[in-house]
Amino acid sequence: MSTIVVEQTGKSIGAQISGLAPDELLKDESVVVTVTDALEANGVLVFRDLNLDPKVQVALCERMGEVDYSEGHHPVPGIYRVTRDAAKNSAAEYLKGTFHWHIDGCTPLHGEPPQRATMLSAKAVAESGGDTEFASTYAAYDDLGDDEKAQFESLRVIHSFEASQRLVRPDPTPEELARWRERPDKEHPLVWRHRSGRCSLVIGVTADHVVDMDLDAGRALLARLLARSTAPDRVYRHHWSIGDFVIWDNTGVMHRVEPYDPSSAREMHRTTMSGDEPIQ
Ligand SMILES: [Fe+2]
Repeated sequence: MSTIVVEQTGKSIGAQISGLAPDELLKDESVVVTVTDALEANGVLVFRDLNLDPKVQVALCERMGEVDYSEGHHPVPGIYRVTRDAAKNSAAEYLKGTFHWHIDGCTPLHGEPPQRATMLSAKAVAESGGDTEFASTYAAYDDLGDDEKAQFESLRVIHSFEASQRLVRPDPTPEELARWRERPDKEHPLVWRHRSGRCSLVIGVTADHVVDMDLDAGRALLARLLARSTAPDRVYRHHWSIGDFVIWDNTGVMHRVEPYDPSSAREMHRTTMSGDEPIQ
């Protein structure tokens, strides 16, 4: 078997994995362990030009965790088509919400924990736009001063799906508003103390306001923390080529997609690993 090479892509997030052919991903348990460890250490893993078969992608996800088999508009169960073409995905309109920094699953329908990880394979790319950016929420915490860590210890934040949608659609119809509000607000601590002992910040576009803090002051604090943790030198930006495969750890990473045209052919095959760790 060839040697797996893990090279960091930035100072606080990201690594490129090379030396691994698609048929080697599932051959050996040690490969799955290496990939899982590299994901925990680096937040985002990039495999250039892997051209992964959809069934192998789902099988890899199965080996690493529990696959979300929700309807994905694709013949292979476990694959969800990410596209802005409403003919291929009836939820395409909601993808505009992904143009802003967010952690998936902060406003769950039934209180379920956020997704553990997400995998994307590029099947078609945008002519312009469509890069995906990642920032570490572990680094966001680690970069705080000791006084800030002490100050934020007990802060709690209300996350709102409506807040995230209003950014892309400031004047919703009453029907849209009612649909957004079907998803209940969710209170999270600002600092997530993970089972591993690491801490991360739970911020992003769903973070609407800080509990028991003046509304404007709380929003200003959330905006400052977001700006600091997504400064250019803190971000890994992925420019997609067809065949690229990327995994990110949704429990320690925020992401956003650079806007691209709704008529673009850009299409990603997404597989989601269900979460098993509540934010606490
Ligand atoms: Fe997302």
